[in-house]
Amino acid sequence: MADLPRPHDPSPAYGPDNLPYDAIGGDSGVRGLVEAFYDRIRDESTLLRDMHPPDDRESREKLYEFLSGWLGGPQLYIEKRGHPRLRMRHMPFAVSQEAVDEWLRCMGLAMDDREISGGLRHFLEQRFSHTANFMRNR
Ligand code: HEM
Repeated sequence: MADLPRPHDPSPAYGPDNLPYDAIGGDSGVRGLVEAFYDRIRDESTLLRDMHPPDDRESREKLYEFLSGWLGGPQLYIEKRGHPRLRMRHMPFAVSQEAVDEWLRCMGLAMDDREISGGLRHFLEQRFSHTANFMRNR
């Protein structure tokens, strides 16, 4: 019985020998997802676009550095900027339920753009959803 496939447990067991960072395609995979995400914000979400500076290059860079470490790759954000303290850093912005939903919607579209599916998709959806809801502050 134990050897049967488990079709209802789609999340792979990520760990030191099986990193989500590698599953997403390493550095270029992380970079690609962040670019797709901010392109979607630019094109799809007035609410989120208006929260960001008109030149979003620095925002893209920060999210790329953060996700690299968060997915098990190089800790680029921490090396450069210290502890992320994400909730605190989002306090100046009105992260309402609507903003959480918009963030997750744009990230979902970005994952579609990058054709992220299967177990990795399931894993990322759960983690993004958890973190985005933790950021809500209004
Ligand atoms: C829940 C809805 C969210 C909203 C509305 C939101 C909005 C923002 C805004 C407006 C900024 C400032 C950008 C800048 O300084 O250029 C920011 C920064 C950032 N966000 Fe979010 N965010 C959300 C969720 C998340 C989530 C889920 C993550 C991680 C998975 C994340 C990671 C970051 C990082 C790493 C920064 C840069 C922090 C810094 O160094 O200042 N955010 N976010």
